[in-house]
Amino acid sequence: MTLLSGAVVMLLLVGSLGFVHEVSAWPAMMAAMRGRNGGMDGMDGGVMDTIQHLMQNHDKITRHYAHTSAGITANTTSSDPQVAGWLQQHVTEMKHLVESGGFIRQCDPLFVSVFEHRDEISLEVTNTTHGVSVTEQGTSPCSVALVQAHAKVVSSFVERGSAEARRCNPHQVPDIC
Ligand code: HEM
Repeated sequence: MTLLSGAVVMLLLVGSLGFVHEVSAWPAMMAAMRGRNGGMDGMDGGVMDTIQHLMQNHDKITRHYAHTSAGITANTTSSDPQVAGWLQQHVTEMKHLVESGGFIRQCDPLFVSVFEHRDEISLEVTNTTHGVSVTEQGTSPCSVALVQAHAKVVSSFVERGSAEARRCNPHQVPDIC
């Protein structure tokens, strides 16, 4: 299989799941193929594998979050140690993605906006016995609202799995943004 056809097959596979992840160092050929409306994926297999494991095991995950004045606090756990490990891995990977200039799920307006406001968002993560405890904050009214809207979507992913995360299922950007 040529490099190009391999890339196209990967694009179809990942695109069908609705996840779009891009990294700044992606080669120019890939950059030319990608777009905001469900375009190219950065194809970091590890990141996508972790998300798929979480989606497939969403019914083994328990999550609670609460609004704070600057954002949210959240506890997300699983009594299955493997799922708890995937949770910890996912949040570490997403924190790195937000902080490193990458992005994901760019066919979804809420995720576009989260990444556009990355400089106003901080994510503190503590691994717990069964998962993760997170404090997430914004530094502007919009970024606070984005953090809170995103937390609600994560809870919907946990509740509904791939029915919620399917390709380009749009989540609304808060009015204040
Ligand atoms: C069952 C599925 C999923 C679970 C359990 C999960 C869990 C989490 C948790 C616990 C956080 C930390 C923030 C918080 O607690 O609110 C987080 C952040 C994040 N997740 Fe997921 N997630 C899931 C699916 C997804 C999917 C499908 C995507 C995108 C394709 C995604 C993208 C992100 C991003 C971008 C962040 C960091 C952004 C931010 O908080 O600013 N997650 N996720």
